[in-house]
Amino acid sequence: MKGRFVTFEGIDGAGKSTHIGWYIERLRARGIDVVQTREPGGSALAEALRELLLAQRMPIETELLLMFAARRDHLERLIRPALAAGQWVICDRFTDSTYAYQGAGRGAPGERIAWLEAWVHGDLQPDRTYLFDLAPQLAAQRRAAVRTPDRFEREDTAFFERVRHGYQDRARADPSRFVVLDGEQAVSTLRVLLEEDIVTLCNT
Ligand SMILES: Nc1ncnc2c1ncn2[C@@H]1O[C@H](COP(=O)(O)OP(=O)(O)O)[C@@H](O)[C@H]1O
Ligand SMILES: [Mg+2]
Repeated sequence: MKGRFVTFEGIDGAGKSTHIGWYIERLRARGIDVVQTREPGGSALAEALRELLLAQRMPIETELLLMFAARRDHLERLIRPALAAGQWVICDRFTDSTYAYQGAGRGAPGERIAWLEAWVHGDLQPDRTYLFDLAPQLAAQRRAAVRTPDRFEREDTAFFERVRHGYQDRARADPSRFVVLDGEQAVSTLRVLLEEDIVTLCNT
């Protein structure tokens, strides 16, 4: 049994958390051994770095390096061992978030991110990435209704427009890995699409 690496992506408020727990239940119902995790975070050290990243102001270079430091620890301690054991790893955010937020959002050069990516996980990419695509204003309305914002969520609409376009560019560049979901659709409609894709993943 080969493990699979599945990531959920999209701007804050686009719908990742709404679907990830449900998605994992659907996999478990099929008898699949699943690990749920998130970035930044997923290991003790990476969770400590997450606290810093979500709370402290810092230069973009520092932010980018801390993201990859957290990712490196997460990969070594959790993601790679789980995949090697045949488990499916379902991760809320991964390197596409770095391209979208630190790259498109904050202006870190794409080549620099690509270099760090090649160094930290040049041998490993997600098998599937769900991109929840949603207009920033709608995402902001949804977030405001339910939570107090962290350092990223306090950014303005223009920032999230850049992040959204960064994600769309990533999806266009790798259409066989990405499934782009229109986040404006009803939760029930999105679940039908996700369930269909689970069938596809199980058969490939
Ligand atoms: N398809 C949808 N239609 C309407 N509201 C939604 C939909 N998806 C998510 N929401 C609501 O939007 C808010 C943010 O969703 P969430 O899943 O937390 O986003 P994310 O994890 O991507 O930041 C939640 O209150 C959630 O209930
Ligand atoms: Mg979430």
